[in-house]
Amino acid sequence: MSSQHPIFDHLARDARQRARPKPGNPAGAPVQALPPVPPVPGPVPVSPPMPVLREQGPVPVPPQTRPPDQPIVIRPTLLERALRRIAMIRPIHDIPADEAAASATLPQRAAEPDDRHTDRLLPVVQRLWLSGKVGTRPSPQQGASAGEQMLDLITSTPGEPKLPDEIFHRLRWGGQFLYVATNEKSVHNLAESYAGKRGFIIEQPVTMVQANTMGLRIPGLTPRGYAFLARKTRLLQPGDFTERFTYDVQLTPCTVCADAPDGYVVTKRIPTYEDLLQRLQHKFPDAEPGDLQSRAHKLVNHVFPTFLTREAAMLGILQNQLDPSFRHRVPKPLGIEKDSRGFVRTLHMKWMRVGGPALSQLDFAIQSAELLTALHEQARVMHLDLRLDNMVITPDGVGFVDFGSACRIGERVDQSPMLDTLFSEMMRTSQIQRMLGKMIERGHVTNNAIAEVYGKVDKTVDAFYLAVQIAKPHGNPDLRQLIRYDPASDVAKALSALTAAVLRPKNPEMAQYKTARDLVRGLRRIQQRFAPSA
Ligand SMILES: Nc1ncnc2c1ncn2[C@@H]1O[C@H](COP(=O)(O)OP(=O)(O)O)[C@@H](O)[C@H]1O
Ligand SMILES: [Mg+2]
Repeated sequence: MSSQHPIFDHLARDARQRARPKPGNPAGAPVQALPPVPPVPGPVPVSPPMPVLREQGPVPVPPQTRPPDQPIVIRPTLLERALRRIAMIRPIHDIPADEAAASATLPQRAAEPDDRHTDRLLPVVQRLWLSGKVGTRPSPQQGASAGEQMLDLITSTPGEPKLPDEIFHRLRWGGQFLYVATNEKSVHNLAESYAGKRGFIIEQPVTMVQANTMGLRIPGLTPRGYAFLARKTRLLQPGDFTERFTYDVQLTPCTVCADAPDGYVVTKRIPTYEDLLQRLQHKFPDAEPGDLQSRAHKLVNHVFPTFLTREAAMLGILQNQLDPSFRHRVPKPLGIEKDSRGFVRTLHMKWMRVGGPALSQLDFAIQSAELLTALHEQARVMHLDLRLDNMVITPDGVGFVDFGSACRIGERVDQSPMLDTLFSEMMRTSQIQRMLGKMIERGHVTNNAIAEVYGKVDKTVDAFYLAVQIAKPHGNPDLRQLIRYDPASDVAKALSALTAAVLRPKNPEMAQYKTARDLVRGLRRIQQRFAPSA
């Protein structure tokens, strides 16, 4: 299955059919009169190095707010210290369930001399750097196999899996990795393999950690070690080829941004020419090198800048037009960087962090359809690429991202020859449109209102694709854990029946479901049917 961005899809076409900017309409032509996006909020600094961490008290200090080079001074009372010492040797039944589960997965490690004190040092760092959160410990057997839970925090000590490539695929985007050991050199070496490489950045550099014994630090007796904290900021590891991402999308630390969960923002950039050429060579191994070079050139200099500029503007429109209750469910633009022609080359936006409690399939469907209705009716924007890849589930509910191919309802893309060409290519070749074409051909879509938008820039495309997605919501592995879906359940069957009614109504001329609002109506009916009777 292809799940790439529609901009990439049109590359698979015959060169003769490929989009070419028409003479007299260079890529520099203004896209549309769209509202400006606020400027970039200054440089995006990385957190400063840390001083020695000492076990002094249970109060966590958020790393981003601490002034550089100021030692952490937390003064617990003697009683507190004594209680914490006692708590360290609490009986097994006192250990919280998540902690117990984490230690249950602990492998039988070879007794490394280096390892002696790390289990005492780990909680010290967890308290200070992670507000006391206890991360899951990886077991060698678990590795990075597919279908496993994606985690937000992994902690390791010597003898446990710890290399970036072992950890990357088990962490969600933005997840953290904490490592503690007593051998300074080995901690430095491991930190080096995480530093800006293999998809991570170092969030807290190697720092000495000290515990204490009854409030005292006794040389030779009090555990002492070294720790660092890394964060997964890349969606893919360098060198990993997938068709999924076309832009360079990563998390960037930002200490000055107001709207930055955990101090991070999402940065979407136009890839470099070299990167893109490499990706094209990988995707089209038989193509002429010269042809690929000119495609890469055109994408990097014309196509991507056009779409990223539009995306930044669309995000601005959404923040202006959507009701406040929906605004936070689409990315808020935080800043842009433009090239000399005025095209956006970098877009910073709010990170809609995936996580929170899992939604039922029905809630997922209702929230998505309501957001789509707001998009169409309040903002008058159609998304046009509403694949599960471009949806997130946050503690605030379902959100949509990637407005790169979005369009305003009523916007005359045909008035700009370049946009006209790009959009009509996209509408011919995007994954959603190809699927619609196949489904019409096989008789799976008889609803006239849907069939007639095949190949067109029309909001009904969004309603069609959402109706397909809600019946099978586990297509995006990142969201699987967050949608409770049992295909054999009555609700799942009712949702499949709704999808069938949308695609193949009894009367194709007078279909009951055409719009996102119609979908919400159908979903609400299912909700009433399955609501527990009062
Ligand atoms: N603001 C955001 N908040 C959370 N996740 C995001 C955000 N923007 C992008 N993503 C994640 O990054 C992925 C790639 O970004 P996207 O804008 O879809 O790029 P592309 O156009 O290359 O598909 C998305 O599928 C989504 O998982
Ligand atoms: Mg996308």
